[in-house]
Amino acid sequence: MGSNLFDLTGRIALVTGSSRGIGKELAAGLADAGATIVLHGRNAATLAATAAEFAQRFGQERIYSYAFDVTDAQAVAGGIAAIEAEVGPIRILVNNAGIQHRVPLLELDVADWQRVLDTNLTSAFLVGREAARGMLARGEGKIINICSVQTDLARPTIAAYTAAKGGLRNLTRAMTAEWAGAGLQVNGIAPGYIHTEMTQNLVDDEKFNSWILGRTPAGRWGTVADLAGPAVWLASDGSDYVNGQTIFIDGGMTVVV
Ligand SMILES: NC(=O)c1ccc[n+]([C@@H]2O[C@H](COP(=O)([O-])OP(=O)(O)OC[C@H]3O[C@@H](n4cnc5c(N)ncnc54)[C@H](O)[C@@H]3O)[C@@H](O)[C@H]2O)c1
Repeated sequence: MGSNLFDLTGRIALVTGSSRGIGKELAAGLADAGATIVLHGRNAATLAATAAEFAQRFGQERIYSYAFDVTDAQAVAGGIAAIEAEVGPIRILVNNAGIQHRVPLLELDVADWQRVLDTNLTSAFLVGREAARGMLARGEGKIINICSVQTDLARPTIAAYTAAKGGLRNLTRAMTAEWAGAGLQVNGIAPGYIHTEMTQNLVDDEKFNSWILGRTPAGRWGTVADLAGPAVWLASDGSDYVNGQTIFIDGGMTVVV
């Protein structure tokens, strides 16, 4: 145990999709708290650039990076096995990789539906399952699944995403049902509208932007930095009796109508 409840020194944290956006900031937050970071993404060049930036910021010896497709069961099993053999036991897993696809339901292709489900939901099952094998054997581990306000609330044109993120909350509960007794804590973080590359088009859309500002009690978009504190908490000893919860970090959006 670290010198304080939120100290992650010496703990290995894998954050999927951390070459950019929310995952990158979550990884930086965990690194700030002392963790050894395994960065992950699909694009080797983006990943290498982020790894170089992190090595400079946090020290080369605490930064690793691995690229594999989180929707490919074999690639996931190989990736997790390689990390555990080469870096060490994964103590913290953040299932962050995700994609969006906007189209009305009647125009939604099965292939796109499947791709969104695979990337946002099946990936958490695949990576979670492989990481949990070691965590269960060691009797400790933290898994954080990145959900969304769409875990709870629907909007037109994002049906597959909404279904996937709703499913992710129940997967969080299912993992808790099976793994909490062995010392794992599995929880979800549900960010509200966060300004990233994924949402830049929405920020640029004047009508949507003013809807967000009016609909959010805090009166602003979230920033990636807003998510780091809750992630550190859920990755640390400070949350050892928090099991199966999904914490909404949304400026109050989901508690008002
Ligand atoms: N931006 C927001 O406002 C917002 C709000 C709520 C939830 N989220 C969730 O946060 C997470 C990150 O979103 P973001 O805005 O940073 O997106 P982003 O597009 O900037 O980053 C997504 C990351 O996932 C990776 N990824 C995607 N598909 C992958 C695959 N098949 N295999 C491996 N890696 C893959 C990408 O390489 C990238 O690093 C997602 O799960 C998203 O649904 C975002």
